[in-house]
Amino acid sequence: MQEISTVLTPDIEGKVVEIRGWVYRIRTGSKICFVILRDASNIIQCVGKLDELGKEKFDMLSSLTIESSMEITGSVNRDERAVTGYELKISAFSIYQRNDSFPVSKDISEEFELDQRHLWLRSREFNAKLKIRATIFHAFREFFDHEGYYEVQPPLMVSTATEGGSTLFKVPFFGEEAFLSQSSQFYLETFIFSLENVYTISPSFRAEKSRTWRHVTEYWHAEGEVAWAGNEKMMEIEEKMIHHIIRAVLKKNKEELTTLGRNIAALEESLKPFHRMKYSELIEKSASYGMPLKYGDDLGADEERQIMSNFDRPLFLTHFPEELKTFYHRPDPDNPGLILCHDLLAPEGYGEIIGGGERIWNYGELEGRIEKSGLKKEDYYWYLDLRKYGSIPHSGFGLGMDRLAMWIMHLGNIKDAMPYPRTIRRLKP
Ligand code: 4AD
Repeated sequence: MQEISTVLTPDIEGKVVEIRGWVYRIRTGSKICFVILRDASNIIQCVGKLDELGKEKFDMLSSLTIESSMEITGSVNRDERAVTGYELKISAFSIYQRNDSFPVSKDISEEFELDQRHLWLRSREFNAKLKIRATIFHAFREFFDHEGYYEVQPPLMVSTATEGGSTLFKVPFFGEEAFLSQSSQFYLETFIFSLENVYTISPSFRAEKSRTWRHVTEYWHAEGEVAWAGNEKMMEIEEKMIHHIIRAVLKKNKEELTTLGRNIAALEESLKPFHRMKYSELIEKSASYGMPLKYGDDLGADEERQIMSNFDRPLFLTHFPEELKTFYHRPDPDNPGLILCHDLLAPEGYGEIIGGGERIWNYGELEGRIEKSGLKKEDYYWYLDLRKYGSIPHSGFGLGMDRLAMWIMHLGNIKDAMPYPRTIRRLKP
């Protein structure tokens, strides 16, 4: 059994192959029937003729419906008129399942498409998206494995917040209350005292009430934690990692990017060095980006969309005021009130894909920040312990993989970049 993509090579001409798949399109006349068959790899036009198959078989073939599953045997010939440049002349076929009419087609509403996502995954468009996602996830791991990092597995049911209480999902836990993890960061910090450089890719959960084009309640979070590294070093590593991922997608998935209509030259721009800017400088220039802001303003989806439509490659935004970020970020000893952190904003209007920076590593300083944030010290005893026994400077980051995928594929909504999005209104399919 061959996959369609291996059938579609010049050396196959005239050879007999067997392929399995699903009916993608079908068009029939009284004596000739064209079945476009798809499998995971591609599509191919197959042609069945009445005089070669006989009436019974020909009728069986020409009455098939979209998404019926079948196996076809035949010889392959080059044909410029066929969709992928080759045509398979059907000599025999068998049917696994003949369908009723398939409920999903191109012209459906957004909500209906989301209700039918389990079926829509078969579309050529989603097939391309899933392949690109697979490359992105693989390339992330490949980068850090190559750099000598260890992949670790932190827990996802936890007792503490990392990113503030307002987006915590609560889960009953045998008479106690547990939360679904918002980020693996604090656990990654524990691992570095054993392994020094670690990463994980795991789901994170945010009970986001805000419905924007870039927020979901469950997303894939790729996080890294690096012993001895400062904010600058962390940004260097992230820039190399994003470059590696983009290069991998450009190498493996040009065809899929084209299927999605992605402007490849625009994506290639991001292989150049990223821009860097301090928060204060961005505020000064904000009016010129079409989004006037004042010092102390936070950047949300709308602000970043406008600002980043002025940029053709990613921007590291650094040195945020302390009040805008969570308690664990290390204050900048040279700039009181500012912290040694960064957000990486994607260009073409996409905005934040990474949050990261240096962690407080002094016990007293962290204790003070925990208390100032109104959190209970006891809940964070294990996190504080790291600052008691052999504490070291360290930094880390969290990359939203679904946001990265949305930008790389140039999609309008994060829900279109992931197979089964979860939002305030959606838990199905
Ligand atoms: O900026 P965030 O909240 O940072 C953290 O969670 C850190 N503890 C990560 C770390 O340093 N290990 O989230 C990191 C990234 C964001 O930049 C964004 O890409 C993504 O996670 N993200 C979301 N993606 C989709 N839907 C949401 N609701 C998201 N919230 C955050």
